[in-house]
Amino acid sequence: MEFSIKQSSPEKQRSSCVVVGVYEDGKLSAAAQLLDKAAAHQLSNLIAHGDISGKPASTLLLHKLPGVTAERVLLVGLGKAGELNSKTSVEILRAAFVALNATAARDAALYIIDEGIGKDAVWVVKQAVFAAAEQAFRADGMKSKPSEAATLKNITFAMLGKPATALKNALDQAVATAHGMDLAKMLGNLPGNICTPAYLAAKALALGKAHKFIKTTVLEEKDMQKLGMGSFLSVTRGSEQPAKLITMEYCGADKKQKPVVLVGKGITFDSGGISLKPGAEMDEMKYDMCGAASVLGTLRAIAEMGLKLNVVGVIPACENLPSGKATKPGDIVKSMSGQTIEILNTDAEGRLILCDALTYSKKFNPDTVIDIATLTGACVIALGHVASGLFSNEDKLAKELLAAGEQAHDRAWQLPLWEDYQPLLDSNFADMQNIGGRAGGTITAACFLSRFTKGYRWAHLDIAGTAHKSGKEKGATGRPVPLLTQYLINKAGRQ
Ligand code: BES
Ligand code: MN
Ligand code: ZN
Repeated sequence: MEFSIKQSSPEKQRSSCVVVGVYEDGKLSAAAQLLDKAAAHQLSNLIAHGDISGKPASTLLLHKLPGVTAERVLLVGLGKAGELNSKTSVEILRAAFVALNATAARDAALYIIDEGIGKDAVWVVKQAVFAAAEQAFRADGMKSKPSEAATLKNITFAMLGKPATALKNALDQAVATAHGMDLAKMLGNLPGNICTPAYLAAKALALGKAHKFIKTTVLEEKDMQKLGMGSFLSVTRGSEQPAKLITMEYCGADKKQKPVVLVGKGITFDSGGISLKPGAEMDEMKYDMCGAASVLGTLRAIAEMGLKLNVVGVIPACENLPSGKATKPGDIVKSMSGQTIEILNTDAEGRLILCDALTYSKKFNPDTVIDIATLTGACVIALGHVASGLFSNEDKLAKELLAAGEQAHDRAWQLPLWEDYQPLLDSNFADMQNIGGRAGGTITAACFLSRFTKGYRWAHLDIAGTAHKSGKEKGATGRPVPLLTQYLINKAGRQ
């Protein structure tokens, strides 16, 4: 799909469809007024007859209006002017693309930027690109008869005035971000028998081939053994698939500049191991590599943008399965940091692979380390499917990530990392145990990770509730690629 921003008059637009807004009080948007004038007040008549209410996200498709060059006009309800929140604004954009995709239009010109929906023009452009990409995304590539690709190919964000450069930059960023989300969604949706640790490694190597500023390296189990990654290796023991430690180094700035390191949980299937999960919805544990997928997606996005920043992606990837060789509850392992861990529940495996990846990340002399993980079911209970859980050992970093989440409409919510929670991880036999009990399960998981992040600025995103949807809408969301990419864009801008 191609996107552009242009100044043009709606009645003279040559697109197969022109999209304009109508407010709930029957007022036409500025672009709609121009169409109305050209079309002998047909739009005003429709409103007078009650054919369109202007309710947010309502739509009405019209054909061959007199005096209008475009073949179709799509009216979209914008609600009450000045009363929209981010939720309804996104719903309006989504409805516009659902309606457009239901037509045979190959190209469309949308007059939505000037209309005061969303936070500001930049926000609207970004969310419109995400909505367009979401409608064009296909998850049924493994069906014997996959659905056809969307017909809608060219999207113009049209304006009555001249578009500002900032808006054009925002569009480029949004398109690259959408490509990153596409990759994260594609990988997330793949089943565990295809998306193995080796598959993720191959995808990371391919990304390195496609972008000359990305260098990918893959460590094998014997290398991890040498590094002393006893915690990571304890998780993969029950699996026949070899574990991989994937590193992607994106060099967009001076080599001497310290990188941001993104560490993504890459459990390609989480059965729980010997602490086996119940059967219901266990298939969704193929999504337990969505942290890893978001790292790959974010690297793709920033490489496409040519972002002037150094970023390293680190992905510990393995399966968590039961077998005669699998780690058992009560087993004690030694992490790369030297700290020992009593594994009381083999289903709390994410933190066991992440802790060694976090220790490993020190070697990049990081400016900041952010890990991204579908870490706890407790996070889904706490925040539902709206916000990702955020923790940080530096408040300024937490604020920057929260702000990036707002900007990209991929929001997070901060939870405490107070010392008071740490004793819940005390073990009689090792330096710590890998679970802290039911109470505050998201927080104790983050506390566990914090013990491996001394000496650098760090944040943790628990995306268990946000990386994928369940039920009828089952599928990966591509989150938190928008949040991470926006954070990196902002950071590059400050340097
Ligand atoms: N991958 C799961 C967390 C998860 C649960 C992600 C639901 C998405 C949806 C993680 O490895 C896990 O099993 N966590 C346990 C931890 C517990 C044993 C302390 C959990 O949340 O139940
Ligand atoms: Mn688990
Ligand atoms: Zn898991």
